[in-house]
Amino acid sequence: DKGAYPYYMIKEIDEQPAVIRRLIQTYKNDQGQFEVPADLITAMQQASNLHIVACGTSAHAGWVGKTLFESMVGIPTMVHTASEFAYHQPLLGDKPFFIFLTQSGETADSRQALVKVNEKGYPSLTITNVKGSTLSREAGYTLLLHAGPEIAVASTKAYTAQITVMAILADVLSNHDYGFDMGHELSIIATAMESILSEKDTIKAWVDANLMATRNAFYIGRHLDYYVSMEAALKLKEISYVQTEAFASGELKHGTIALVESGTPVIAVVSDPTTASHTRGNVEEVKARGANAMVIATQDLAKEGDQFVVPSIQAELSPLATVVVTQLIAYYTALGRGLDVDKPRNLAKSVTVE
Ligand code: M6R
Repeated sequence: DKGAYPYYMIKEIDEQPAVIRRLIQTYKNDQGQFEVPADLITAMQQASNLHIVACGTSAHAGWVGKTLFESMVGIPTMVHTASEFAYHQPLLGDKPFFIFLTQSGETADSRQALVKVNEKGYPSLTITNVKGSTLSREAGYTLLLHAGPEIAVASTKAYTAQITVMAILADVLSNHDYGFDMGHELSIIATAMESILSEKDTIKAWVDANLMATRNAFYIGRHLDYYVSMEAALKLKEISYVQTEAFASGELKHGTIALVESGTPVIAVVSDPTTASHTRGNVEEVKARGANAMVIATQDLAKEGDQFVVPSIQAELSPLATVVVTQLIAYYTALGRGLDVDKPRNLAKSVTVE
């Protein structure tokens, strides 16, 4: 039931701080440390490589997960688009371990990949929102997202819950030893999300002024900001039908900047101190070609004139905050265009055909 909300999508966007807090509570033990089943940790510790397999938004969460597993645990991690992986597997390493990310647990492309993984006898974990779903039953282990039902076709709270569960898993795998307190940082993020959600009017006004008439738009960023850009672009295109692409901002000059015309909206995500000045340089380049450039920045990296400033949070987890701004951008663009936000054309919530 969507209660007083006009659409499920905005209700689900609003639920995200509560989902993060629920995950913190659910996965903490009596000693206040994150815990997951010990046999899962043993199986993952024996692995030489992790392989994350998913589609759409879940695959975009997978890219953030890759960064967490590599930087916090030091285990090489690859991300695979499920529909590609099922039929053409790359070299997997001596002892691969598979993580299937799927909100529904029913996505046929992901399931086909799991069938192949099971045929080869490789160990696997499904991270899903739906207890008892097909991928949960067919994988060796399951971790639940505890996000509550996600009804809108555009996935929002599942993305942030997937990243949170992978952050918790990385915390346990690294024996809680990599330089910050994950539980504490995640609760700061829940509060940061609330502060972003309290600024819906600002985002709506910005969208109304800049995205109502455009036929195309671009998101740019580097590393985690690029991964968020991929998700931001999918969200905007699937519900507002604005043709939106994400670019690693360093790639612009290798071809894509040719698409920038006078007035083209280009939204830059700036949350990474090591690349902020480079991305800002790219913002100047697109502006010089007439783009309508806009910046979403974290407080520590913000500059006068940035369109939206997000509270500063632990850099490795920045997608959990920046993505919320982009979910609201997509929502208000579709709403402003009079579209059915929850049921975009040509799409189904759960894609059960390959
Ligand atoms: O249920 P799943 O997470 O396996 O679904 C994967 C994709 O079909 C899904 O994320 C899709 O891309 C959404 N429409 C994105 O908003």
